[in-house]
Order: sequence, then C-alpha cells, then structure tokens
Amino acid sequence: MEEKKVLFDVKNLKMYFPARGGKLVKAVDDVSFKIYEGETFGVVGESGCGKTTVGRTILGVYEQTSGEIIYRGKNTADFKAEDKMAFSKNCQMIFQDPAACLDPRMSIGTIVSEGLTVHYRNMSKAEREERVNQVLAYVGLTSDYASRFSHELSGGQRQRIGIARALAIEPGFIVCDEPIAALDVSIQAQVVNLLTRLQKELGLTYMFISHDLSMVRHISDRIAVMYLGSLVELGDNKSIYGNPMHPYTRALFSAIPEPDPYHSWLKSRVHLQGEIPSPINAPAGCKFCTRCPQATEQCKLEPPALREIESGHFVACHQIQPVNA
Ligand SMILES: Nc1ncnc2c1ncn2[C@@H]1O[C@H](COP(=O)(O)OP(=O)(O)O)[C@@H](O)[C@H]1O
Ligand SMILES: [Mg+2]
Repeated sequence: MEEKKVLFDVKNLKMYFPARGGKLVKAVDDVSFKIYEGETFGVVGESGCGKTTVGRTILGVYEQTSGEIIYRGKNTADFKAEDKMAFSKNCQMIFQDPAACLDPRMSIGTIVSEGLTVHYRNMSKAEREERVNQVLAYVGLTSDYASRFSHELSGGQRQRIGIARALAIEPGFIVCDEPIAALDVSIQAQVVNLLTRLQKELGLTYMFISHDLSMVRHISDRIAVMYLGSLVELGDNKSIYGNPMHPYTRALFSAIPEPDPYHSWLKSRVHLQGEIPSPINAPAGCKFCTRCPQATEQCKLEPPALREIESGHFVACHQIQPVNA
C-alpha cells in the first residue's frame, strides 16, 4: 500500500485567549493530530468547542500559545519569509458567512483576483481575467459574474465566490469552516457536492469543520471529535460512526435523528446532561467528567491522554482500555 503523506502534523497545540480578570479562554487545549494529503479531515463538536480556533491557528491566523505545527515536515515556527509566502498560497480558508468577507464595493472579478496580484505578480491583466473566468467555471458560474457585485448574488452564489476566491491561487489545502451552515437546506447539498468534485479534480486536502454530524459523516475520511478545547476521539469515518467509544461521542451521536439501528452501541444510548462548562473554568481532569455518566474519581483528577485503542482509532478516556493491553 502506498504510504500516506502527512501534510500537517500538529503536536500539543494550545491556543489560549486572554479573558477578563486575568483569566484565560482555553479555546484549544493540548490537541494533537495529523492531516494526510488528499483526505478530508472532519472536525466536529458543539458550538464553542474550539473548531474554528483550531482551523485558524494551523493556518497561522493566530500565533499559538504553545505546541508545534509541522507542515510538510517543516515547523511553521521556523518558516522564513519565502516559506510563509508559499504557505499562505497553499493553505486557504472558506467561511460560514461568505458575505462577511466579500467587499460590497468590489466587483466579483476583483475579489476573486485579489490573491493573484499577491501570489502571481507577473500575471498580465488578460491572464488574470482568464484565471478568474476559469475558477468561476470551476464553481459553476459564467464569466459575466466577474462584473457583478456580491449584493446581487444569492447566498449559495456568494459561497461559490468564496470558494472561487480561495481556488484562484491554486491552494492544496483548504479549511472549510462550516461552509454550508448559513445556507438554505435546499442548496447545502449543491455546495457540498461542489466541494467534493473540486477535491477530486484538483487533488485538494480539506479540513472540514461542522457541528452537523451527518454532514461530516458524508464528507470526511477521518474525523476528530472535540469537547471544550480537547480532542476526545479521532479515527476513520467507519470506526467513529460504527464504533464510537468516547461517552461524549456516543452522546453526541445519540442525538442524530436517524441513527442506524444495527449498530450495537446504540442500545446503550447516552443522553447529555447539564450544560457545557465555560472554557475559562473547564473542569480539571477530564473536561467531560461533569457530564459523563461513567466518571470516576480518577476522571475528576487526571486529564486522560488520547490513546490508540484500536489501529488508527484514538480515544481520550480513562474508562476505555486498548484492545491488546
Ligand atoms: N479571538 C478570540 N478571543 C477570545 N476568545 C475567543 C476568540 N475566538 C474564540 N474564542 C473563544 O474560544 C472558544 C472556542 O471558540 P471557537 O473556536 O469559535 O469554537 P467553535 O468554532 O467550535 O464554535 C469559545 O469559548 C470562544 O468564545
Ligand atoms: Mg466555529
């Protein structure tokens, strides 16, 4: 079998934000994972668990509090100017709300070609226009959209422009941050299908962030489940959905409206009790312990490490032991 190439190797990443009273929002708290080239790496969890912060931090939008981000074997902390330039060309982001990042005074053509003027400085005006038309075609829009303005477009068309803008500079990796959450249900599938088709055609790697479990299941090769800034479970699509092990993952999946009744774990459905604690005052020990039906004294005291329980399936829970241990 061909060896999978590691695109990102993220080690013990922490991203803390200052909060009032000298406290810290531990938005991302010691998270480690790898993203392989060509895959869709799904990140799920309830609102506020740190998904967006993980995406932004690995793209260098924030400087991490601690931990390492290794991109193609090179630590991003050691990047020289030319590495930073190449990284910002190769790694792009698309957002939940494309309207917020589309300047209403700029034509779509100008918006889509903005990155070209930075990363392809020697391109002629004609070449730029050609490139804009090409990426508009990628996202299913005709070239006359180049002269329009974002307020003339529907939500779905705006998201297509957001995607076209990201694609214009030929990235290899895109963080898709809830890219369909703000769209009408009727057009969500179109945008997801577009993203999947583009991935195949252009050989892209995605980090796909969503709170929508069925969407993540549909699109992801591997899935990371986050709770309060921590990674609680990580594995391939089949093991995460077929055999979720962490009590939080099980609870999250128990809320899926149409679960597969043949999965044995569903016989022991878990229902989430209580509120999510604040990331400013997260519980010591396992962060899920205040809501976990299986929590013991150990869970309240010691944070569980993410351990490989089955091949490629990692779980951070004191109650779950590796199969061959
Ligand atoms: N720039 C910031 N400054 C301060 N706190 C932030 C900032 N960004 C996010 N947070 C906080 O970090 C936590 C995680 O947020 P976020 O990454 O947006 O979660 P998600 O995308 O999973 O909803 C939240 O408590 C949020 O309020
Ligand atoms: Mg978010």
